[in-house]
Amino acid sequence: MNILVTGGAGYIGSHTCVALLNEGHSVIIADNFVNSNQSVINNITKITKKPIKFYNVDVTNETLINNIFRENKIDGVIHFAGLKAVGESIEKPISYYFNNIVSTILIAKMCQMYNVNRIVFSSSATVYGNNSSPFTESMKLLPTTNPYGETKVICERILLDVVKINPRLSVSILRYFNPIGAHESGLIGESPNTIPNNIMPFITQVAKRLREKLYIFGNDYPTKDGTGIRDYIHVMDLAEGHVASLNNTPVGYHIYNLGTGIGTSVLELVKTFEETNKIKIPYEIVGRRPGDIALCYADVTKAQVELGWTAKCDLTTMCRDAWRFEKNQSLINY
Ligand code: NAD
Ligand code: UD1
Repeated sequence: MNILVTGGAGYIGSHTCVALLNEGHSVIIADNFVNSNQSVINNITKITKKPIKFYNVDVTNETLINNIFRENKIDGVIHFAGLKAVGESIEKPISYYFNNIVSTILIAKMCQMYNVNRIVFSSSATVYGNNSSPFTESMKLLPTTNPYGETKVICERILLDVVKINPRLSVSILRYFNPIGAHESGLIGESPNTIPNNIMPFITQVAKRLREKLYIFGNDYPTKDGTGIRDYIHVMDLAEGHVASLNNTPVGYHIYNLGTGIGTSVLELVKTFEETNKIKIPYEIVGRRPGDIALCYADVTKAQVELGWTAKCDLTTMCRDAWRFEKNQSLINY
C-alpha cells in the first residue's frame, strides 16, 4: 500500500515508517519538523535502504495537504502529526486545539474527497483519565486534566462521526501507552528539542551526564513501591502495531490499546536501566506532578485477538536500545 504518514519524522512516526517499508509498503511523509529534524528521513532510508517521498508541510494547511492527495495515489493515512507536551498544552491551549484538531479534520476531509478508506489515528491512554487499570477499550472515558488530552478525545469523536457517513471507511484509533526505546540501529529514537517531559529521555540524559539527576515525581502512590506505574512499550513493537492495524482493521470504527499489559514502577524502570547498561542513575524523590495518576496499564486482549499483534520486547531491551540511541547523539546543550 501507499501510505501517507503525517508526522513521519517524529519519534513514533519514524519507527513506523521503518516497519512499513520493511513490510513492503511505500511511504509518503508529511512533516513540518516542528518537533523533529529532516536528518531523520535520511536515517530511515539508511536503515531500510528504501526510498521515501516527503513533503515539508504543515498539515493544518488545506491547500498543501490537498496537493499531496492530488499528486499521489494514497491507500491509507497514519496520522501522527500533532503537538504532545502536556504542560505546554496548558500554557498554549489554542495552538494545541488548532494543530491537533484542524489537522485531523483535514485528513478526514481529504480521505473523503479522494476515496481513501483507511485512517489510523494516534490516540493516547490519557483519554481513560483516572479509570482503574487495566484499561479496556470499552471503558467510559473520564476527563483528562489538560488540553492535549482533550484534543485526543475530540479527534476520536470526530472520526467516529466520519465513519458513520462512509460505509467503506476503516478507522483505527490506537491508544498508545508509554513508548520508550529506539530502533536497534541506534540511528533513530526519541530526541526532544527541549527539556524532556517524559521519563526515558530524561533518564538517558542523566546517564550521559547532561543532567545531574532524575527527579522522581512522588513515592506516596498506592503502588508496590509508592512510585507511579506505567505500561512501557518498545517503540518498534508499537510501530509493528500500526502495520498490523493497517492490514487487519475491518471497515468501521475500531479502538485498540497498544501496550504490553505489564505495569512497571518508576523505581523498577530506573533499576532495570542501571542493571542493563551498567550506569548509575542518581535520583531524588520530589512531590507528585500535577495531573499524574498512580496506575496506567493496558488490557491488550483486543489487539491480540483482532489484529493478531502483541508486543514482544522486554524492559531490558527497551532500556538497552534507548541508551544506544542516546549515546549516538552528539552532545546538545539544553
Ligand atoms: P513527535 O513530536 O516526536 O512527532 C510528531 C511529529 O509531528 C513531529 O515530527 C512534528 O514535527 C510533526 N508535526 C506536529 N505538528 C505538525 C503539523 N501541523 N504539520 C506537520 N507536522 C507536524 O511525537 P510522537 O511521540 O512521535 O507522537 C506521535 C503522535 O502520537 C502524536 O499525535 C502524539 O500525541 C501521540 N502519542 C504519543 C505518545 C508518546 O508517549 N510519545 C503517547 C500517546 C500518543
Ligand atoms: C505523559 C502524559 C500523557 C502523554 C504521555 C506521552 C502527563 C501527566 N501525562 O504520560 O498525557 O500521553 O506522557 O506523551 O504528563 N516521571 C518521573 N520523573 C520524570 C518524568 C516522569 O518520575 O522526570 C514519572 C511520572 O510521574 C510517571 C512516569 O514517570 O509515573 C512516566 O511519566 P511520563 O514518561 O511523563 O509519561 P506519563 O505521565 O505516563
